[in-house]
Amino acid sequence: MKKILPLLSLIVLIACAERKKSKSITDQQIQDAVMIEGNRISNAAQKALGGQLKKAMGEGGPRYAVRFCQTAAYPILDTLTTGLDVKIKRASLRLRNPKDAPDDTERKILEQYQKSLDGQAALQPVVAFPNENQILFAKPIVLNNPLCLNCHGSVGTEVSSETHALIKDLYPDDNAANHKIGDLRGIWSITFDRDKLITYLEQQKQE
Ligand code: HEC
Repeated sequence: MKKILPLLSLIVLIACAERKKSKSITDQQIQDAVMIEGNRISNAAQKALGGQLKKAMGEGGPRYAVRFCQTAAYPILDTLTTGLDVKIKRASLRLRNPKDAPDDTERKILEQYQKSLDGQAALQPVVAFPNENQILFAKPIVLNNPLCLNCHGSVGTEVSSETHALIKDLYPDDNAANHKIGDLRGIWSITFDRDKLITYLEQQKQE
C-alpha cells in the first residue's frame, strides 16, 4: 500500500493540473466549434492553394507550377488569417514533401480514411484529441480533379518525364506519383489550442 500511495497522489495531481475548465462552454460546444471552424479554415486553405495552382499551371505549365508549389504552398498557408491562431498543414501516407509527414494521430486518421475508402464508405471530417491542450480537425483530400494528375498521376503518361525529373530533383524520396482519380491523397489537418479556443468562444458569447 505504501508504494501505491505516492503514485495515487501523483495521478490526482495530474488530474488537477488538467486542462482549463470553462463554466460556460461545454465539451460539446467546443467540438461543434472545431467542426465549423475547421471546415471553414480548410475550405479557405484549399481555395487559396487551388486558385494559385491553377494560375501557375495556366501561366507556365506543370514544370513551372511544380516550382511554384515547392516555394509557395507553405507561405500561402501561413498567410491565412483565421483569428484563432491554428496550425494548418497537409499530411499524407504517400509523401512528396517530408515536412508533410503525419504525426501519430494524423497517421491513425489517414489509415482509417484509407480503410473506409477501400470499403467504399463515404469519408467525413473528424475531430480528435491528441492531448489535453490540442484539438485536431481533419478532412480528407481525395484526388478528384484531372488537373492533379499532371503531377500526381502515372509517370511517363500523365506526369511527363520532364516534370517527373524535376519532381525527383526537388523531392528525391517522392512517393506521391502514380495516383489514380478517387485515391486518398492526404488530409487537411487543423490544430486548435484548447485554451485559446475556449477564450474565443467565451468572448463570442459576451458579444
Ligand atoms: C504542378 C504540379 C502539381 C499539381 C498539378 C498538383 N500538385 Fe500536389 N503537390 C505538388 C508538389 C510540388 C507538392 C509538394 C509541395 C511542398 O513542397 O510543400 C505537392 C503536395 C501535395 C500535398 C501535400 C502532401 C505531400 O505529399 O507533400 C497534397 C495533399 C497534394 N499535393 C494534393 C494535390 C491535389 C489534390 C491536386 C489537384 C487539385 C494537386 N496536388 C495538384 C505538385 C502538384
